Amino acid sequence: MRIPGFKSGIAPLLLLCGISSASLAAPQTPQPSLEDRLSQIQISPQKTQLAAEAGKRTASFCFNCHGTEGHSTHPETPNLAAQNAAYLLVQMQKFVDGRRKYPFMEGLLKELTDEEKVNIAVYFSTIPAKKNPPGDPAQISRGKQIFSQICHVCHGDKGLGNEQIARIASQQTPYLIKSLTLYRSSSGERKDPIMSKVASQLTDADIKAVAAYVSSL
Ligand code: HEC
Ligand code: HEC
Repeated sequence: MRIPGFKSGIAPLLLLCGISSASLAAPQTPQPSLEDRLSQIQISPQKTQLAAEAGKRTASFCFNCHGTEGHSTHPETPNLAAQNAAYLLVQMQKFVDGRRKYPFMEGLLKELTDEEKVNIAVYFSTIPAKKNPPGDPAQISRGKQIFSQICHVCHGDKGLGNEQIARIASQQTPYLIKSLTLYRSSSGERKDPIMSKVASQLTDADIKAVAAYVSSL
């Protein structure tokens, strides 16, 4: 261990005198949490712009799977564009600490610094969403009923979510189906007490219909 302000040879001497080196070291300022860093950026339009510019440089690697500017073209890979920044950060943390399981994402995100994660989340949240091509009208109208009975309470009438809750509007249909099925399965790949309870009330046909509606928003 290195003690700021002391040459390495001094620490053993201090120990001999019975003085703990920790008591002499300057108090460490605690690192701000990712959420705190994010809110400090979001209160300032200028900081948001700078963070988004820095985030874009790192995020270009993510485009390989999540699509240019986070508009995905792979059915089971989510759009990141227009997603809420705080939700993106929470998911990145969940991949890293194992609360959400997807080995590739876990390995990749462990390589990023906290600052890079925050900047990437800010960047994607500033990109406008794209509308999906029209889906099956019968599925959509059935899905709308489920949405307005259950989902709108948390995800909002237009599926835009908020700081804590995911935006689901205009997400890829197959990714929505996969996510709802994972929450329901309790396999541990995607654990969330709220969403597991919600999904446990849905049949396969309900999941397909509600996914079709949500992705049409
Ligand atoms: C090799 C392909 C690949 C690359 C590259 C990749 N991702 Fe992913 N990512 C995925 C897949 C697939 C999922 C969906 C995993 C699941 O179903 O749980 C995902 C999910 C996510 C999610 C969760 C989104 C949500 O709506 O819940 C975030 C956040 C994310 N990735 C961030 C990133 C970032 C940041 C980068 C670049 C540093 C990146 N990904 C690069 C494949 C990739
Ligand atoms: C009581 C609040 C609540 C209700 C009701 C609710 N959700 Fe959620 N939903 C959440 C929360 C919180 C999360 C984030 C969970 C996590 O971290 O994995 C979430 C996440 C999701 C995700 C993952 C998004 C992504 O990008 O991966 C999908 C899909 C989803 N919800 C769909 C639905 C649908 C469809 C319904 C209605 C059938 C619904 N939710 C009802 C709170 C709710």
